[in-house]
Amino acid sequence: MFITLEGPEGSGKTSQLPALAEFLRGKGYDVLVTREPGGTSVGDQIREVLMNMKNVSIVPQTEILLFQAARAQHVAEILRPALDEGKIVICDRFGDSTLAYQGYGHQTDIGTLQYLIHFATGGLTPDLTLLLDIPVNQGFERKLKNDSEWNRLDAYAKAFHERVRQGYLELAREEPERWRIIDASAEKDRVQEEMRKFVLQKIAG
Ligand SMILES: Nc1ncnc2c1ncn2[C@@H]1O[C@H](COP(=O)(O)OP(=O)(O)O)[C@@H](O)[C@H]1O
Ligand SMILES: [Mg+2]
Repeated sequence: MFITLEGPEGSGKTSQLPALAEFLRGKGYDVLVTREPGGTSVGDQIREVLMNMKNVSIVPQTEILLFQAARAQHVAEILRPALDEGKIVICDRFGDSTLAYQGYGHQTDIGTLQYLIHFATGGLTPDLTLLLDIPVNQGFERKLKNDSEWNRLDAYAKAFHERVRQGYLELAREEPERWRIIDASAEKDRVQEEMRKFVLQKIAG
C-alpha cells in the first residue's frame, strides 16, 4: 500500500509521520517512511539545489523538471522495491505536490504536468492520499513559531500559497476515492487520530 501526505506548509505532514508509522508498526505492518524531494543520494543533491535560498534564478520550468528528476530516482530506488516487498510506504509529498505548487501555484498547464509526473513515476499512483488542510496564515505562523528552517519555496508570495491550498482542495474533490481531507488546524492528537482512522479504513478495504 502506497500512502502519501500532502498539504500546505506547516500543516503537520513531517511532524505527524513518525507517530503514524509507529502506530502501524505496532499493528505488525512493515512500514517504510520517505519524503520528497530526496530520499536517495541523487535526490538529496537535487533537493539542495531546489531549496537553497541562493538559487533565486530558478525558473518554474527548471523547478518542475528537477522535482521530476528527483522523483524518478526515488520511485526506482526506494518506492517500487519497497512496494514490491509488500511494505506500507508512506511518503511525505509526491506527485500531487507538483500539481498543487507548480500547477496551481505557478499556474502551469496541469495536463503537461500530469504527463511529466507519469513519465517520472512510470504511472505509480498512491492508494491513499491524506490532505492536511490548513489556512495559509496558520500554517506559516506555525512554521515561524517552531521552525527556523525557511527554504526558497516557502518564500513565494502569499497569493501563491493560497492558490496551492485551493488547488489541493480541487484535486481532492476530483478524486474522492483516493483523497481524504483532514482539518489540520486542529490540535496534533486530533489530526493524528484522523490520519490513523483513514489509513485503517483503507487497509480494511
Ligand atoms: N496540529 C498542530 N498544532 C500545533 N502545531 C503543530 C501542529 N502540527 C504541526 N505543528 C508544528 O508546526 C510546525 C510545522 O509542522 P510540520 O510537520 O513541519 O509541517 P509540514 O511538514 O506540513 O510543513 C512544526 O513545528 C510542528 O511541530
Ligand atoms: Mg514538512
